This record gives sequence, C-alpha cells and structure tokens, in this order.
Amino acid sequence: MEIQVSKNIDDKFYKPADEFFTAFSNEGLTFDDVTLATLYSEVLPKETQLETRLCEGLTLNIPIISADMDTVTESRMAIAMALNGGLGLIHYNMTEQQQISEVKRVKNHIHGLIQEPIKVAPDQLIGEIIKMVEQKKYDFSTFPVVDENGKLVGLLPGHVIKQRYAKKKVADIMTPRKNLHTINHKNLGDNPIHTADKFFNEHPGIHKILVVDDDDKLRGLFTLSDVERIMQERNAQFRPARDSRFRLICGAAVSATRNAFGELDKDRIINHVGALVDAGLDVVAVSTAHGFSKGVGETVKLIRQVFPKLPIIAGNVTSASGVEYLARCGANVIKVGQGPGSICTTRIVAGVGIPQMTALYVTSKAAKEVGVKLIADGGITKSGDIVKALTLAHAVICGGLLAGCPEAPGQIIEIGGKLYKQYRGMGSLAAMKAGAAARYGHEKNNISGKVAPEGVEALKELAGSVDSVLSQLIGGIQSGMGYLGARNLDELQKKARFIRVSYAGQREAGPHDIIEIKRT
Ligand code: XMP
Repeated sequence: MEIQVSKNIDDKFYKPADEFFTAFSNEGLTFDDVTLATLYSEVLPKETQLETRLCEGLTLNIPIISADMDTVTESRMAIAMALNGGLGLIHYNMTEQQQISEVKRVKNHIHGLIQEPIKVAPDQLIGEIIKMVEQKKYDFSTFPVVDENGKLVGLLPGHVIKQRYAKKKVADIMTPRKNLHTINHKNLGDNPIHTADKFFNEHPGIHKILVVDDDDKLRGLFTLSDVERIMQERNAQFRPARDSRFRLICGAAVSATRNAFGELDKDRIINHVGALVDAGLDVVAVSTAHGFSKGVGETVKLIRQVFPKLPIIAGNVTSASGVEYLARCGANVIKVGQGPGSICTTRIVAGVGIPQMTALYVTSKAAKEVGVKLIADGGITKSGDIVKALTLAHAVICGGLLAGCPEAPGQIIEIGGKLYKQYRGMGSLAAMKAGAAARYGHEKNNISGKVAPEGVEALKELAGSVDSVLSQLIGGIQSGMGYLGARNLDELQKKARFIRVSYAGQREAGPHDIIEIKRT
C-alpha cells in the first residue's frame, strides 16, 4: 500500500543525509547528536546482510575492524576478528620483524588445530607429569609424546596419569606410535576442519588426531570437542573472512617512517611492506593522526607504485580534500576520525578535529566523487553508533570496545576485586616511546616532556570474548537495519533519514528514572 499523505509529513522532519547535514553545515555533530527515523520494513534483523566490499581484493563479512593499537590488535585479536568475518589491523609498536611474525601467525592459523600442543618426553616420570598438570592448572590431561628431535613416539592418555603410576616412565605406559591415528599435514587440504571432522566420523571413539609431517615430526593436534564446536559455529550467519587460499585475512599498519635526516625512509618502507606481503598480508594501513600531509601521501604513492594490487587503507582525515588527496595518491580506503577516540585528547591538546558524524558526511561526499570507501575510526561506544556510522561509511574501527577482551594484548589486572585490561592511546607518552611517535609527527628517540601527548593511558573493565562482544554489536546493527527496512549496507545508506537530538532527547535515549540492576 502506498502511504502518500503522511509520507509528506515525515519528509518534512526526517531528512536524507544531504539535506540534513547541509542544514547543519556550521555545526559539528557526532553520534549522540543524531538519530535515525524508523521506516516501513519487510526485513527481519536476521535476514540482513552485513557484507562490505572495501575495494577489489578486500571484502569483509561484517563491517567491523579492530584498531591498530598496541593494546588492541596483535595476532590473537586479528584471528578472532577474521574468524567472525571482520579484520584486525596489527599495530606497529613493535619491531618490523615482530610485526611480520604476527601477520604470519594469522595467515598460518588453522582453526581448530592446536599448533603447539603441550608435549612430554618418553623418559619423564608420570609423577612429573602429574606435578606439571597441577602447577600449570591444565584442564586437559592427554599429551603427545615426542623425542628430542620432535618426532612423535606416542600419546599419553589422561587415564594413566595417576598417582599409582607415579614412578613409571612415560614410554612404558603411553600408547605407542604404531597404534596412533595420525594425518599428514599435507593431506589436510583446503578445509582442514572439514578433513578433521570427516576423520572423526570415520573413527568412532577417537577423540584426538595428531598431525605430523613427512619426517613424522608433530605439527599439531585436533580434538573432537574443538572440531564439534567449530562445526556448529559454521552454521552461523557470518562466515570467517578468508583470502582466495582459504587463509584468514589480516591487515597491518605502517607509518610514514623517516630516516635520521628526517626524510621518508623509502627503502625501509618498501622492504617492510614487501616482507608483509610475502607473509600473506591482505591490506596495509598507512595509519597516522594527520593523513592530509605530504609524508603520508608520499608513503601511499610509494606503496602503490611498488605494489599495484595491494589494498591500501590510509588516514586519518576529516575533510573532503583529505579524502581526495589520499585517493589520488593511490589509497583505496580512507580512515576518517580526528579526535573522537575514547583515549584521544587531540581536540583538547591541539584544538583540532571534527565530530564524527559531520566528518563522515563531509568525507563521504568526496569519497563518492573519487571512488573510494570510508572507514569510521573512533568514538564508537555502542552498536547504535555503528549503525549511524554505516549510513555514511562502509566499515568501522573499534578500539575501546575491544580492548577489554581477553584476545587483546596485555595482562589482566585486578584492582579492588575487579578485573581490567590496559588501554592506551597511541599518542600517549608511553605508546609514543614504544614506537608510535611517527603517527603523531614526532621521532621515537626524541620523545621528551616537550612533546605534547595526544592520548591517555587507561583501563577497560575485562570484557567477554571477541565472539561475544561482536555478536552483541552485530545484533544491534541488524536490529537497526531491520528498523529501516534495509536488507544490506547499500540500502542502509540510501534509506537513512536523520533528525537532530536535543540534550533532553539524548537523556531520554538511555535508561532513565529507574534503578538499573542489569544491563545485559
Ligand atoms: P575508540 O573510541 O574506539 O578509538 O577507543 C580508537 C581510535 O582512536 C584513535 N587513536 C587516537 N587518537 N590520540 C588520538 O587522538 C591517541 O592517542 C590515539 N590512539 C588511538 C585511532 O584512530 C583508533 O583507531
């Protein structure tokens, strides 16, 4: 049914992006300043598609990327992000060699395969193994047995790790090599988890498969329970983000590195990006606080020249000219955000930056003209912010929302009975000293009290796993799309209608006038 009369009324108040943001052209608006009007819908949240194609060679199954920050993304986070259909950008506050190893870890990750299982030696006593299990608090008790060259010689099953056998040697009591079920890693194929699942189907009663190489050296271990859990997850709506060789995708950040004379260190940049590409890198992010600058543009140009097909993300900018500049230098995807981050003080310290929704609108106009996609970077504190960001951008970067997850780097800290993880701005003094100085136009070896930090050091309460945090965020995005009748992210952009929210309206948006006892 065509709703005609009333539609005209709605159109007067709930405006498409062009009309809305033009009407507020002298005001900087951020997520909480706007809300989206609900529209007629035939779309259920679970039917919505979240796939986002950022450029040729880079498509994500969910539009969420973990920030290239030293308290957010190393290999463990990047693996979890890609397994959920997103992307992790490995930070650059480490040596180049370490960053390459982190990328390799993601690219070599085989879901479900424990690549470095805890092993025991044939001449150890069972008593020693009992002690080890107690001390390390292992919640498993089956151990592959390998000789001094790493060759598989047996398997020590849990039911023999008993005090009564304490004086016996592992070799005397283990299941010997000849009775073990193994698979050569070459035969795992393109879909190792499927191969393992098939193997367990064909071998009822077997709970472990040992993976070996041609020399019979142990290369890993599959357990039935892991494989069963993963096969169930496979029915989930969002598939892992993989490359054409079925490896998880992975990104890494680089900066506009300079030599001792303050010039762009072209050789170093090219060698480093080359090694990352050799390790299987899917996208490089030239990640700085001020992307509309000569050094960043030249770095992008250089990488584009030497690696014509490599997807390049570059930023950060908040102006249409900044987008055009980086696009003309060769970037495919532009990061938008200056000062919105939860740990950022750029706006306070330097007096610059643009509230995020306005920045996204202005930059989106240029992005369409020059044919690049945008990533909204920073300031996202809830799934509703992501829905709003995706009305103008094609993906979001989250730092603070993921920094409390166990997959983020760093130890869990206990304070007053509560558990926390460290989260710090890459422009904080500590992070710049550790290597991030170039991101803010400073030199690492010259960080002193004179350099004004643009970020703070903070704590985040320990959060659930990346899987659980992302499932909440994805659920929220899908709800938002359902309210707008948007089947996919393109439709979300076309359909979005905005209205400004007053301060009282912002208050009304959160729980109010109640005593909250539980949020999740
Ligand atoms: P959220 O809000 O997700 O923001 O925690 C993460 C984003 O913030 C940026 N970032 C910084 N910005 N000073 C800044 O002005 C900093 O020290 C800093 N560290 C990170 C970055 O874009 C990140 O993705």
